[in-house]
Amino acid sequence: MTQHALIELLNDMTLEEKTGQLAQVPVVSCIGGISEPTGPMEAYSLTPELLKFCGSVICDRPVTAEDTANAIRSVMEEQPHHIPPVVMRDVIHGCHTVFPIPLAIGCTFDEAQAEAMGRCGAIEGAAKGLHVTFAPMLDVVRDPRWGRVMESPGESPALCAAMGAAMVRGTRGDGCDNKDRLAACAKHFVGYGLSQAGQEYAPIDVSRTELYNTYLPPFQAAVDAGAELVMSAFVAIDRTPCVCNEWLLKDVLRDRMGFDGVVISDWGDVEQLANHALAGDLSEAAQLSLQGGLTMDMMSMAYLKHLPQLVREGKVSEQAIDEACLKVLELKNKLGLFEDPFKNTSLEEEEKVCGCQEIRQAAYEAAVSSCVLLKNDGTLPLQSGIKVALTGSHADNGDILGGWSADGCYPIETLLQSFQKESRVALTDTANADVILYAIGERQQETGEDASKTKIELTAEQLDELKRLHALNKPVVLLLFCGRPLILTEALPYCNAVLNVWFPGTAGAAAIRALVMGDENPSGHLSMTVPRSLGQVPIHHDRLSSARPFKENSGFVNRYIDEVNDPLFPFGYGLSYTTFAIGEPRTVAPTVVEVPVTNTGDREGAAVVQVYARLRHGRLMQPDKRLIAWQKRTLQPDETQTLTFRITPDKLRLYDAAGNAVEPEGICDLAIGDRSDCAFNAHVVF
Ligand code: GLC
Repeated sequence: MTQHALIELLNDMTLEEKTGQLAQVPVVSCIGGISEPTGPMEAYSLTPELLKFCGSVICDRPVTAEDTANAIRSVMEEQPHHIPPVVMRDVIHGCHTVFPIPLAIGCTFDEAQAEAMGRCGAIEGAAKGLHVTFAPMLDVVRDPRWGRVMESPGESPALCAAMGAAMVRGTRGDGCDNKDRLAACAKHFVGYGLSQAGQEYAPIDVSRTELYNTYLPPFQAAVDAGAELVMSAFVAIDRTPCVCNEWLLKDVLRDRMGFDGVVISDWGDVEQLANHALAGDLSEAAQLSLQGGLTMDMMSMAYLKHLPQLVREGKVSEQAIDEACLKVLELKNKLGLFEDPFKNTSLEEEEKVCGCQEIRQAAYEAAVSSCVLLKNDGTLPLQSGIKVALTGSHADNGDILGGWSADGCYPIETLLQSFQKESRVALTDTANADVILYAIGERQQETGEDASKTKIELTAEQLDELKRLHALNKPVVLLLFCGRPLILTEALPYCNAVLNVWFPGTAGAAAIRALVMGDENPSGHLSMTVPRSLGQVPIHHDRLSSARPFKENSGFVNRYIDEVNDPLFPFGYGLSYTTFAIGEPRTVAPTVVEVPVTNTGDREGAAVVQVYARLRHGRLMQPDKRLIAWQKRTLQPDETQTLTFRITPDKLRLYDAAGNAVEPEGICDLAIGDRSDCAFNAHVVF
């Protein structure tokens, strides 16, 4: 439809129709079935009279193309203008075919992997009749106690921005109206990753300077990449919940960042204003949220039930309703829903697309690229002809998809099933094995939303078993399944090798087997710091400078008296079965550096060369070191490639409390290496 036709439609709609477009209801209320809620469910008393006006449905359970078509039809047919509802779902890391969790995708340091995950999730989701995914999640995360770190590309604003933009590109392609793409919703806007003590739904406290420099940049990247929606976060800025924070949703998101799409609340968040003693009832909550700039109300029914009366009472202007409603109609128009609300799909199309070989192969490649080899004394890769024991809680279960994998196809091939197909080694028990593979970690339900933990070490049982296996005097390889960095300090001495596989998704078992057998070479590098102890948390590579930097054998410096400052494994760290030499960087122009990297080992491998920076002088404090650029390159044995890094000012730009840019000036020191604790070895001049 043309914009003019949209305006005409808007002008022809009743007040109930317009306010109804701002409401999102559960799909089970349209087509029945058992809800698998991602938030508290209540008796919403949704009458058919109310339902027929709703503008959107959220798939709070797995759906087929038939389910979504029925939901769309059930709403459209009752609609006076037969406006189709927009169908939304959490396709966070794949849909039917589950990819590694986004924290693992961050470890690939490869935007192509993030784009592939977005594309494949969209292809399968669109085949199911979905229109929008609530992804990418772009919360910068620094506290592994928080269960939702698994959903984020990690601790670095630059890495989150690059991976988030790539996910958006993959999800929407060259337009979300394509039948095999979805509209993207960047979330959670903003600062949710700062939840105090990593406790779920805890308050945050963040300065505007930190918002501008750390937490907003990934969302700017997603908006610039074309994200059609932004989801407000459960947290508050300046003691005003994001869901009704006019400064955040209007001054920052729309006026400063240039976002012109739909702002949707998180689950039930409008109603939750009462818990902050800001709204005396649902009607007041609706009023505060609409005035604050919220377009669509997810699952609180405040907009659906109270906006018409608020307009009649003059508490909310009809103009505000019209502005919000037009955003929703424009989203539906971008999606092509007025022409084809069903995305031209069917059960046959869904059957053909979901789980197809191309998507499974992409999931396999993502799993191979995201596993991080943390330790290896040469035990890996396994030699042919040996006897191997595979033991541990994750040796033979499908608990390897991770959180937010509700549509994951089942049954999942387990590690044991995969190794039973491996002819080069013989499976046996631990007593007779030459090498022991100990597969353990977190259970899926211990990660994701509503899964904060105060203990992130291996359990006592896991440690005891590891020590017992070690006492058998044969190499032990730890295969670690987790949705967050786990503390391995006590476990490490008992392991000959550690492969952190995160939650590797549908093709995870095949990927792990290929890595363990050496058919593939690990190339993952940590997207989040691994602490040495919980007491160090929050810990991350790009901490602001200290007035008294640490110095060996000195007091009154930045330190603990009972722990070192360094993490167990730093951000950006990851081993390979080959070795790389990163040579001396050369500054070939004021802000251009070249650096040679050589594969000094005996097999092909992918190196991740990272660039960290710190200005020698500036008007604002800055991190001691922050990731600003990286390149991942595959090299043959003895091959050298020279990488060029153009250090553009935007990579060093800072912002003051008012959001004014502070451009880099003068000398900028660079640390170029394959982990964040590499030494400064170059500089450029602005
Ligand atoms: C949840 C999550 C959000 C998700 C939404 C819909 O509460 O916070 O990330 O997209 O509800 O499932």
